[in-house]
Amino acid sequence: MNESRPESMSSFWMPFTNNRDFKQNPRLLVSAEGMYYKDVDGNQVLDGTAGLWCVPCGHAQPKIVAAVREMVGQLDFAPTFQMGHPAAFDLADRLMEYTGHKFGHVFYTNSGSESVDTALKIALAYHKARGEGGRTRLIGRERGYHGVGFGGLSVGGIGSNRKSFGPLLPGVDHLPHTHNLARNAFSRGEPEFGAELADELERIVALHDASTIAAVIIEPVSGSTGVLVPPKGYLKRMREICDKYGILLIFDEVITGFGRLTTPFAADYFGVEPDMITTAKGLTNGTIPMGAVFTKQFLHDAFMEAPPGIELFHGYTYSGHPVACAASLATLEVFKEQKILEHAKSMQPYWEDAVHALRGLPHVIDIRSVGIVAGIELEPIAGKPGARAYNAFKKAFADGILIRVTGDIIALSPPLVLEKQHIDELFGKLTNVLKNLD
Ligand SMILES: Cc1ncc(COP(=O)(O)O)c(C=O)c1O
Repeated sequence: MNESRPESMSSFWMPFTNNRDFKQNPRLLVSAEGMYYKDVDGNQVLDGTAGLWCVPCGHAQPKIVAAVREMVGQLDFAPTFQMGHPAAFDLADRLMEYTGHKFGHVFYTNSGSESVDTALKIALAYHKARGEGGRTRLIGRERGYHGVGFGGLSVGGIGSNRKSFGPLLPGVDHLPHTHNLARNAFSRGEPEFGAELADELERIVALHDASTIAAVIIEPVSGSTGVLVPPKGYLKRMREICDKYGILLIFDEVITGFGRLTTPFAADYFGVEPDMITTAKGLTNGTIPMGAVFTKQFLHDAFMEAPPGIELFHGYTYSGHPVACAASLATLEVFKEQKILEHAKSMQPYWEDAVHALRGLPHVIDIRSVGIVAGIELEPIAGKPGARAYNAFKKAFADGILIRVTGDIIALSPPLVLEKQHIDELFGKLTNVLKNLD
């Protein structure tokens, strides 16, 4: 691969990027291994974000690289519409094992956004299949991020992502978010206050009537909005209210799936079982784009009672792409062989102590942590929201650490294969950045 600077950077319209600023002062990555990227100038950059929450097993895992190479040479593409290939079926079985057989089926997509839209469509079609076609309303949450498709955008709750794109889907309502700096700042794990916010679903039910509501979708831990950990008891309460009214509960685990909280899914960590889980990212250790929706057996059963024929008119050309399936099968083997979850669990206390040691540094107004995730909220510069954290991001990269920022919040989510020395390096450098920030 070309490891030098591109001749021109004008043609690529970069996603979720300040294009003009970036192209003045680009940050270019050319290779990756283990916990580190290498940039175009040959500098090592410690990956504090697993790319974009994508690489739980660390970069360039030999087994995954070999599996991808082998499959692309053997079966570069095969359709899964009225056709199939063995790896797609094998992977589905392995994934059901990975869920501890709490889920019965998996529907393949290519991204988190597609997983979300797929889950929302399955929810609507499920109710219709069982004669409750009036259940068309979808409930999301303020500050939720569910990708950028029109479905995910509609249930999402981040104003800047929504405001340019018109009225979005009709019949959507939003729960309040659970962030509460005044009561919960500097919590470790689940904050104490806010379980009662789940009762807002009762208010929404009273307003619209349960017979119009298909599903609630929430991230168990909101990531893109700056690491919001659910208050103690909140998710259990949400499950109870959904059960009371026959509303499906979807957990969007695009970032929390595959070990981020040291358990297979956040659902396991919090002991709450949703009806569907949306995933992507860590599913293939980030190597090949792929997403997957896990569904409970009863959802699938409802479709199989229809008259013979195609049961669900939905799917993507690349659903179950053979190379992605090979990457995912290898990823699951790496999880097992290298005991990725156990290792993450063993690192968690050291990680949490290191994060909370940042308390007291300039501008730090909150620190949140759960699993191998941390959110560090900075006091915004008056009149310039996001500017302080963006500066931190640029300084951090120049100092050799990749962090992620959203608004004025730094979100950290390194590969789960991290060791103590990586935690020391990450927080040592971040401390310097924060001490020298305007
Ligand atoms: C919770 C959640 N859902 C959905 C998505 C969208 O995933 P993608 O960018 O792969 O479409 C993301 C991406 O970060 C996410 O964090």
